[in-house]
Amino acid sequence: MILQIPRVLTPDEAADFVRRLADAPWADGRITAGPQSGRVKANQQLPEDGALARFLGERLLKALSGHPRFVSAALPRRVYPPLFNRYGEGMAFGDHVDNAIRMGPQGGPPYRTDLSATLFLNDPESYDGGELCFGEGLDARAVKLPAGDLVLYPASTVHRVNPVTRGVRLAGVFWVESLVADATQRDLLFDLDAAIGEARRDLGDGHAVAVRLVGAYHNLVRLWART
Ligand code: NI
Repeated sequence: MILQIPRVLTPDEAADFVRRLADAPWADGRITAGPQSGRVKANQQLPEDGALARFLGERLLKALSGHPRFVSAALPRRVYPPLFNRYGEGMAFGDHVDNAIRMGPQGGPPYRTDLSATLFLNDPESYDGGELCFGEGLDARAVKLPAGDLVLYPASTVHRVNPVTRGVRLAGVFWVESLVADATQRDLLFDLDAAIGEARRDLGDGHAVAVRLVGAYHNLVRLWART
């Protein structure tokens, strides 16, 4: 499932990220690419161990941990510290699949990437191109979101960023190691969680249907989660 999650950051918070990134020490984005993706990646990226990347990354992780829709969809076990990137005119990232494993920062344990995420940071009207694209032909989807909105998708998905033809595109990207590695199981839990929300709202928390649905949800998590 390719999922849009609105307002992970408020417009004011996103604008603050953009201000802080204006004079950032950008480096060549290929520093974190694998051998295949390095050939098609042409963008700039904040060095991940720099003070600004860490500061903004921690703010973003805090926003994510308090966002019920993100938690319900991703069931995060660990979130890789966000990277921040910049696409100026002519920059793009061709078709690729994100690396399955990312080494932990400072030699920590490796992360398995179950989900990939892009947080759009600046006003989509301020640049042309820069869509995050999935698939081909009838299956093709192009995603370009308001500042502060997130797109979350299975890390197994082939994707690309279209060339920016005017202005600058700023985004945060990160990966989630989920408690539930299988995308089909995760999507089913997300649907069930949404149904539980509706049952609790319409019937009340104490209604027998709500109680049974909550029980089924937790029993499926017990079955499928790997901690
Ligand atoms: Ni990617």
